Amino acid sequence: MPITILGIESSCDDTAAAIVRDGILLSNVIANQDVHKKYGGVVPELASRAHQQNIIPVVDRAIRDAGVKPVELSAVAFTRGPGLLGSLLVGTSFAKGFALARNIPIVEVNHLQAHILVHFLKMKENDTKKPSFPFLSLLVSGGHTQLLIVRDYDQMETIGKTIDDAAGEAFDKCAKVMGLPYPGGPMVDKYSVEGNPDAFKFSKPRVGGLDFSFSGLKTSFLYFLRDRMKEDPEFSSKYRNDLSASIQKTIVDILSDKLEMAYRQTGIREIVLAGGVSANSGLRKRMEDLAVKNNWKVYIPQARLTTDNAAMIAITGYFKFLSGEFAGLDITPMARMPL
Ligand code: KG4
Ligand code: ZN
Repeated sequence: MPITILGIESSCDDTAAAIVRDGILLSNVIANQDVHKKYGGVVPELASRAHQQNIIPVVDRAIRDAGVKPVELSAVAFTRGPGLLGSLLVGTSFAKGFALARNIPIVEVNHLQAHILVHFLKMKENDTKKPSFPFLSLLVSGGHTQLLIVRDYDQMETIGKTIDDAAGEAFDKCAKVMGLPYPGGPMVDKYSVEGNPDAFKFSKPRVGGLDFSFSGLKTSFLYFLRDRMKEDPEFSSKYRNDLSASIQKTIVDILSDKLEMAYRQTGIREIVLAGGVSANSGLRKRMEDLAVKNNWKVYIPQARLTTDNAAMIAITGYFKFLSGEFAGLDITPMARMPL
């Protein structure tokens, strides 16, 4: 009997559902919420409402795309946290109702763990290029920036983390200062392509050990731009490409410096990039360069699996299903949830 998992993700502003059978991805559906664009960031109440509207069509589509029958589902895996409570509640409640109606178990998933375990998702039967334990993971998203040693599917040790903003937040906030719409990370990436990364210099934070800091960079970017705009009100739009390339390079430098430090401390050459910011072309390119320089084996997720998705929830749910880790129907979501 194959093991077929329905994964549900609703931690922030994407409503997603996916089907994974015996570790192989069968379908992956994501409904983005455009409603937040005009507010320049995610509005929790609106996110929760949009999840309620989206969840049934998204799950229905995932099941149909996969070509499976609802009776063939073995379990429902859902994001328990971390994330926005109102958003998590929609996915959690739906998972419970769906599982109860079909008399199948539910599996709770940690969103951060899932971003990392997406690397074990198979696209087809003989898909074998997978990281081997232990590996170092740089997890960079809109809400989190962490360095971890991953010893097994369920053994992840955080060895460094941001003391203030996340890397994705730094991208988004700098983009906002330039007048770009939310989420700004992909826009900065796009404009960077035509820009000179050495046009402007921004100082890097001095944070001890393997921890990160991004709030100072955001502030210095804000002041820098404010001063230049006083002299030339067109400055931001005139130099959009160079500003984007320079800020992107600074963020990538900060991330890669700490990753190299972690490598020197641990000697681990198996490197796994995870989270929404791993879609960034500058970071992806840097990882490839560092792989050559340090003789690393680097794993970068496919672009569509970097940002929030339910395929990562389903594959994590699959591993937990195999080890019999089921949740009770009294389970509640957690806004903060450590690894
Ligand atoms: O993992 P994710 O989808 O959601 C969270 O769990 O936070 O990450 C979203 C973050 C946002 O900050 C977004 O701007 C950033 O990832 N991001 C990017 C790119 N694509 C997404 N940042 C820089 N370059 C990109 N291409
Ligand atoms: Zn995420």
